[in-house]
Amino acid sequence: MADLSVKYLGLNLRNPFVVSSCGVSATVKGVKQCADCGAGAVVLKSLFEEQIEAEIGMGDLGGDIDIHPEASDYLSELGKLHGPRSYLQLIEEARREVDIPVIASVNCVSARWWSDYAQQIEAAGADALELNIAIMPRTLDQEGAGLEDAFYRIIDQVRKQVSLPLTVKIGPYFTALPRVVAGVVKAGANGVVLFNRFYQLDIDAETMELVPGYQFSSHQEMHLPLRWVSILSPQIECDFSASTGVQSGLDAAKMILAGANVVQIASVLYTEGIKHLGVMIKDLELWLDQHGFGAPDEIRGKLTQSESYKSETLERLQYIKTLGEAGSS
Ligand SMILES: Cc1cc2nc3c(=O)[nH]c(=O)nc-3n(C[C@H](O)[C@H](O)[C@H](O)COP(=O)(O)O)c2cc1C
Repeated sequence: MADLSVKYLGLNLRNPFVVSSCGVSATVKGVKQCADCGAGAVVLKSLFEEQIEAEIGMGDLGGDIDIHPEASDYLSELGKLHGPRSYLQLIEEARREVDIPVIASVNCVSARWWSDYAQQIEAAGADALELNIAIMPRTLDQEGAGLEDAFYRIIDQVRKQVSLPLTVKIGPYFTALPRVVAGVVKAGANGVVLFNRFYQLDIDAETMELVPGYQFSSHQEMHLPLRWVSILSPQIECDFSASTGVQSGLDAAKMILAGANVVQIASVLYTEGIKHLGVMIKDLELWLDQHGFGAPDEIRGKLTQSESYKSETLERLQYIKTLGEAGSS
């Protein structure tokens, strides 16, 4: 039987399945369920910067960027989300109740607040901190370089306050992703989560309103993080967590082959139930056994893309071939 244990952000995990920040990890009960079903680690539901502001009593965000559009949805969806103080309580209680790493998560859009709050998260006993930096350009005057600098400022600010392992969850929408991930690591992150999945917008054509779209990912979405993990993992020294579209043990094996240390999962826990964790874990174990590997470490990074011209050419040729096949059927 393969030994599934892995290291992520310097933490020892019994397996590479990390429950993503989502409603399932918003309560101690949910965290316990994830641990009971075999999760390697849990990322708690995010505390949104807007919640810190609300508790501190500052209405207008001003600052670097607009209010984050995901926040209002998450807030109204869960209704009774934690404020900053009860979030610290959630960290403390979750830490006490489970013996797997508990990673706190903050969804932020500016470099404010961190001097105090990051330290409080550390003091509450979080094993690591995941920053979901959710800065999205919305106006014509926002330039790429300025937005990227805002990312680095946040990370730098947090890094100065805590010695906890720090990971940064970003979206895929950058002109030069390799440079941004390198910058994120240089600013002090120990790992990256690729990718955040942004709020899905839809339109109700009857009521003529903007409404939330379907929030769960599909399995097909895993190809985007797979591609980028396979490109970036050989070039940048940090831990990689592959997130979005991971729904099976086989998906996890593929992400690890591409260079991921762990995978994160959310949607499938809603669509299949938290017990699906057990199925995924067993399937990864089986795949490793059937292919003669004793541990995830033995396959990590076996199938990456180097930064060479050759791998870019191969990817383009593969693309042309696939389009040709689709056209002829
Ligand atoms: C109901 C729900 C709530 C979520 N809440 C958060 C959150 O608070 N913070 C965060 O960083 N990501 C949040 N996410 C995004 C997930 O952590 C994850 O990045 C995304 O769903 C992609 O993974 P998946 O394909 O496994 O669902 C949420 C996702 C869902 C479905």
